[in-house]
Amino acid sequence: MANDAYPVGIDPNRPSAARIYDAFLGGTHHFAADRAVAERAVQIMPALPRVMRANRAFLHRAVRFAVSRGVRQFLDLGSGIPTEGNVHEVLRELVPDGRVAYVDLDPTAVLHARAIIGDDRATVMVQGDLQDPEAIFADPLVHGMIDLARPVCVLMVAVLHFVPDSAELTAAMRRYRDAVVPGSLLAVTHATAGPRPEEVERISDLYNRTGTPMVLRDPQRLRALLEGWEPVEPGLVHGPEWRPELGDEWPGDPAESMMLAAVAVKP
Ligand SMILES: C[S@@+](CC[C@H](N)C(=O)[O-])C[C@H]1O[C@@H](n2cnc3c(N)ncnc32)[C@H](O)[C@@H]1O
Repeated sequence: MANDAYPVGIDPNRPSAARIYDAFLGGTHHFAADRAVAERAVQIMPALPRVMRANRAFLHRAVRFAVSRGVRQFLDLGSGIPTEGNVHEVLRELVPDGRVAYVDLDPTAVLHARAIIGDDRATVMVQGDLQDPEAIFADPLVHGMIDLARPVCVLMVAVLHFVPDSAELTAAMRRYRDAVVPGSLLAVTHATAGPRPEEVERISDLYNRTGTPMVLRDPQRLRALLEGWEPVEPGLVHGPEWRPELGDEWPGDPAESMMLAAVAVKP
């Protein structure tokens, strides 16, 4: 099919992180070019689908944790292409009127999220770059859904490793922290080198040839981005170590998840 058969901004020949992730998770919202990257990545690192599932399991735990802290609003930055178990779905099982604003850079993610959200009136999806918080907060859909006078859980799950260090990113991270009231939460996961740096480097090379290059950070570099937030117990750890629940067990060394995770509170 010709490229002009797709909505503006969607190029089926240029793999995107959102669609590659969908391919990893067994979704149906990706093209052959995305599937090819996912298959190559799994050849390099067979544990990758398990890593992705562990990331989703963390996301679900983080949502439940936020709800247990009385938080009812979620700003999900880099929300991705919904497969099952999205934030609003996990939330609906706990608080029927919990609110969610999804934000993603990728138009494919926006398109599919809107279809999945359907007539859920407490969930919106907008296209945006997390490095531009002013535009996100000014978006009428976000503005109408998220009440900044009440605690918010900001989710940045498996997204910051697609955003290189810059003054813009540092300023954006501060803006999110300053915009929310004390008691708000920030939940993060982030790719890190782990015990197999060569494999991770090869995966990173693969993404660097797509529309969404990747930047690995160690705990120190990630902590710098979380300045002003106080991680709750057990702190910044590997994803599977963050308050695992029944069924979330990670066989072997948690560092093999190559994923750092934390939930932090605004003091
Ligand atoms: C691996 S997916 C993660 C999806 C979801 N958060 C999860 O963990 O299941 C990463 C998503 O981040 C999005 N993304 C990358 N850079 C972004 C940016 N600067 N602003 C907003 N979204 C971004 C990609 O389009 C992709 O959908």
